[in-house]
Amino acid sequence: MSILITGGAGYIGSHTVIELLEDGYDVIIIDNLSNSSIEVIDRIERITNKEVTFYHAELLDSNRLDMIFKSHHIKSVIHFAGSKSVAESIKHPIKYYENNVTTTINLCKVMSKYDVKHLIFSSSATVYGNPKKMPISENEPTEAINPYGQTKLACERFLKDLSNADSEWKIIMLRYFNPVGAHPSGEIGELPNGKPSNLMPNITQVAVGKQKKLYIYGNDYPTKDGTGIRDFIHVVDLARGHVAAFKNIAKFEGLQSFNLGTGEGYSVLEVIRTFEKVNSIKIPWKLKEKRDGDVAVSFADTSKANKKLKWKAKKNLADMCRDAYNWELNRTKNKAYV
Ligand code: WQD
Repeated sequence: MSILITGGAGYIGSHTVIELLEDGYDVIIIDNLSNSSIEVIDRIERITNKEVTFYHAELLDSNRLDMIFKSHHIKSVIHFAGSKSVAESIKHPIKYYENNVTTTINLCKVMSKYDVKHLIFSSSATVYGNPKKMPISENEPTEAINPYGQTKLACERFLKDLSNADSEWKIIMLRYFNPVGAHPSGEIGELPNGKPSNLMPNITQVAVGKQKKLYIYGNDYPTKDGTGIRDFIHVVDLARGHVAAFKNIAKFEGLQSFNLGTGEGYSVLEVIRTFEKVNSIKIPWKLKEKRDGDVAVSFADTSKANKKLKWKAKKNLADMCRDAYNWELNRTKNKAYV
């Protein structure tokens, strides 16, 4: 019995594949490598000393997808594949709806044909829009404030309708807060396309000299130090949340959603200070005006995942800063890195 991981060569997908392989599961990856590299597959095999079945394919290619389901005994699917930049989604909505929504519908059509009806879906805290109550629980109303968020919400609503129409479907939607960091081996990590939009990869690029300074977007938010507050979660903890979802999915009926965060909020300045302390380095920064679409505060109520998935994030902000820097250093030192 295998687990099919769409987008398994990507940032969160590759870390999840490692955790599943180390737990003894058989994994098949399908990835179009639009936001990753074939080198990641080799590194996954090197880290785990296990074989991975890899298909360089598009989820929009129904014939190829059909062949994969015909050739393997697939028990469950973890669906990571998709585009995830808020800024890019504003400029290219067609690409985002095709990559995130059409692919999900296509995948479910083929899964249904082969009677594979256990699905773990990669969603995002972005579906909470501009939340009023903190910490954010899964019962908070959902709304989307950018095209990326709209595509995640559209997938969530599609999956809800699918689950209502056919009770055999068991679907878990995992709403990620702010994934950061990298595998402690320093072999895999985030691979931003061009200049990153997220905080941590911009910090690590300043740390290795790829960028001269960090820009802090706004310091007059209603927070303890005026900068934005987020629930940063180590990507390995996030990966382990997917393994916990996979191990528990058969127990649930229908569709469930879970927040994957630490339940702690850290400000931008706190992240910078922790990064500087842990890595004994100075991060020069300059204040800029607030970024459109940014909320002041966002952190998760993780009690549902803690209880029902028996999962809790274990790594702290220092671990996240250490592993993120270690990965960036490896990439910079050893040019052969992706
Ligand atoms: C965090 C804080 C910025 C960069 C995004 C997506 C979300 C999810 C995670 C996919 C904010 C500040 C940032 C910088 C800064 N992606 N910042 N300087 O915006 O919370 O979430 O990534 O699922 O969908 O929206 O993360 O890291 O971009 O920003 O000051 O160079 O850091 O203003 O307060 P965000 P982020």
